[in-house]
Amino acid sequence: MKNTDNTPTETAIMEPDYTQQFCDDVIAGLTATPKYLQAKYFYDAAGDELFQKIMGSPEYYPTNCELEIFTQQTTSLAEAIIADGSPFDLIELGAGDAMKSTHLLRCLLQKQAAFTYVPIDISGHVIGYLNDTLPDALPGLKLTGLTGEYFDMLKQAEKLSRRRKVVMFLGSNIGNMPVADAEDFCQELRQHLSAGDSVLIGVDLKKNPKAILAAYNDAQGFTRDFNLNLLTRINRELEANFDLGQFEHYPTYDPETGSCKSYLISLTDQEVHLCDTTISFQKDEYIYMEISQKYTVEQTDQMAIQAGFAPINHFMDSKGWFLDAIWMVE
Ligand code: TRP
Repeated sequence: MKNTDNTPTETAIMEPDYTQQFCDDVIAGLTATPKYLQAKYFYDAAGDELFQKIMGSPEYYPTNCELEIFTQQTTSLAEAIIADGSPFDLIELGAGDAMKSTHLLRCLLQKQAAFTYVPIDISGHVIGYLNDTLPDALPGLKLTGLTGEYFDMLKQAEKLSRRRKVVMFLGSNIGNMPVADAEDFCQELRQHLSAGDSVLIGVDLKKNPKAILAAYNDAQGFTRDFNLNLLTRINRELEANFDLGQFEHYPTYDPETGSCKSYLISLTDQEVHLCDTTISFQKDEYIYMEISQKYTVEQTDQMAIQAGFAPINHFMDSKGWFLDAIWMVE
């Protein structure tokens, strides 16, 4: 979702509380060993734009793979979700522009499934946009958008209706957590659900390491700029003085662990000032920026079972690069 004008999200970013939190988080990360920055701060207006460019780059395969599943296997997906035909709430965590889900929603409407679509997003702008556009694009759609943190809003959704729940978590967003956190997330998700509820989760799979690394190291340099843009944002919003020429983007993929990680490497001994603090970097020291974890199908099954779900369906694109799995509450 593009967010270039003066939208609620942009205004929120300028609030003093937000700046203080941003400052505290950056200091905590840069005084830790090893140094890190939180990925949630990537997404200012410039970051949103670069993220869209990464998604549109020829090397970035995950979006196209998952879109293929949602356009080529729509009926099977819809039938798996409709299951016994009882009414349900279709809850989407991190709905964004709902581009992929729209295909599924249209098919569910054609099949006259009894459901309400409940998109959840941290951005009020995103939910406003879905409220404004989806009912026109999909006549007959019942929609209740919720703005906030995933689990807070899941609690809200529990209060709204007693129907069974189908929770969608697409785009391999689960991959942006280290494995242990992803396992905790699945367990927490399970605790919010009951017998008969299900999950539709999108996971990027292990594949040729070159294809994975290329997706996070596009030739046009959008991923590099996306990482460096966080330093630009810190310079602007926290009045810091990062010299962008003295940090280099370093993406890695380890086929053994399935972890695709990105770092910024300090090219020299240097000091950076921000929020009344001085941070020292040694030459070759790194800042850990982000993870995009890749799994095998078996590993995702294991993760489901460990959290108290039964993996019941595997939908994959024609290359076998991406998985949309359906997990039922046991
Ligand atoms: N979840 C997606 C992925 O891991 C999208 C994503 C999140 C991403 N952060 C990113 C893609 C940073 C590229 C770079 O692929």
